[in-house]
Amino acid sequence: MKTGARETGIDLERFRLRSFVEELRQAGELEVRAAAADLAEVAPALEGNAKAVLFERVGKEGAALVGNVMGSRARLARAFGTAPDKLLAEVLRRLQVTPQVVEVPRESAPAQEIALDKADLTALPVNLQHGMDGGPYISASIDFVVDPSNGWTNVGVRRLMLRGRHEAGVDLNSPSDLRALYEAAATRGRRLPVAFVVGAHPADYVAAVMRLPVDELGLVASLRDAPLAVVKCVSCDIRVPADAEWVLEGYLDERGHVEPEGPYGEFLGYYGGVKHNPVFHLTAVTRRRDALFQTATIGGRNLARTDTAQLNALRTEVMVWRALETAVRETKAVYATPASGGMYNLRIAMRQRVPGEARNAIAAAFGCLANVKHVFVVDPDVDIFSDEQMDWALATRFQADRDLVVQSGFRTLPLDPSLRGARTGAKAGFDLTLPTGEARGIESTIPEPPRFEGKRFDSVEAALADGPKTFEALMAALASRDGREVVLALEALREAGRLVREKDGRYALRST
Ligand SMILES: Cc1cc2nc3c(=O)[nH]c(=O)nc-3n(C[C@H](O)[C@H](O)[C@H](O)COP(=O)(O)O)c2cc1C
Repeated sequence: MKTGARETGIDLERFRLRSFVEELRQAGELEVRAAAADLAEVAPALEGNAKAVLFERVGKEGAALVGNVMGSRARLARAFGTAPDKLLAEVLRRLQVTPQVVEVPRESAPAQEIALDKADLTALPVNLQHGMDGGPYISASIDFVVDPSNGWTNVGVRRLMLRGRHEAGVDLNSPSDLRALYEAAATRGRRLPVAFVVGAHPADYVAAVMRLPVDELGLVASLRDAPLAVVKCVSCDIRVPADAEWVLEGYLDERGHVEPEGPYGEFLGYYGGVKHNPVFHLTAVTRRRDALFQTATIGGRNLARTDTAQLNALRTEVMVWRALETAVRETKAVYATPASGGMYNLRIAMRQRVPGEARNAIAAAFGCLANVKHVFVVDPDVDIFSDEQMDWALATRFQADRDLVVQSGFRTLPLDPSLRGARTGAKAGFDLTLPTGEARGIESTIPEPPRFEGKRFDSVEAALADGPKTFEALMAALASRDGREVVLALEALREAGRLVREKDGRYALRST
């Protein structure tokens, strides 16, 4: 049943991309290019940029375009109203939220404020992203397709290589739900209607990269943690978020994987070559009056600062977290490093209750995703978001002949150039945990600044008469804010032949 947006009480501005970009501006996370700019300026401005970049007037149409919106964990976390190290927990919580999807009439949908008379892909601000790409790519395009078997909407992110005014190549090489739906249609000689949203809130992109067996419109609502207003497209029966910036409607034709698509600077930082892929045909374009187009960064040597790696990281972490829920008991944190594409190098912090659990975690992570290649497991005292602490743990808690797990012959991603053409690949696990159940000796205790807590005494001698003490405890005993008077008192006791040291270094009075 359709309901007017006002009746639903759904705020159609709250989750629009422009509102989030405004928030980034306030937070100092946005670089604004107010002057007229050519599309050729976009990719160099985004490459390795720690900020999101807003072009207020780009291309001959003077369109508004934003890139790198999700290119940092801090920005993704901001979109979820949380901190970077709490992001996974927040996403896992939202995945449990019961979704509410409400259809609104066209006149209430900002995404259809303007329906363009002449649908033309070359009238959109689409830039060439990498030097050897096969053409300009629409890269932040969320696809919506209806699964005819159950009426559910499948949602994903798929790039579109411009081939002309009405055609674009779509990469459907990797296994995905969309690929299965497309191939089911194409083998029956049928077109598959599809709508691409370009310009959406980061939560929608996170929902789109999840691969879960649910109606994924509901997933968008759950991850927004709010009811989702949807509207029916103008040229097909697909429903898309009514607050989208741009919507490109059309279909994938029935000819199959027939047209060359690529090369393209891919998510592992290298090019993917030319592939044969299906073709998208544009039938309509709708947009907001002040629509903001979006581009997603992907390839190159600054992967950690790309939208794609940050999105992939979150997806990897959700999948691994779920696998670990059954494999081990006390997972504390999971982090897929964005510099490895958000998938190849994975960190797990866990409490190992019994010997061997770290290896169980490694095996579970190996198996749950083809893209996980190297797994590092640490105790909860190591901050897995810190490269420095991980380097330290690898240096000091790891013996290569004891703690390395290497296995070969796994299904893997063909894009990995280190495979050198092989179809299967190796995985390695690094068990950086300390032995379980053993009290830590001083040699594996981590130094911390002194805190000077403990009982007070009138003198060093009185304190030691109470029992052996560390130097810190003796300073605390005397409420010393200096320490050197404690050295003098210890010197006097030593010269009087009354001082000894315990094995652990504590000072004690010689027993008489
Ligand atoms: C920016 C971006 C672009 C992507 N482009 C593609 C693509 O062109 N082709 C593809 O198969 N997957 C692509 N992906 C990955 C898919 O969106 C992801 O695997 C998704 O879960 C697939 O959804 P589905 O299995 O529900 O169809 C992309 C991901 C991101 C973040």
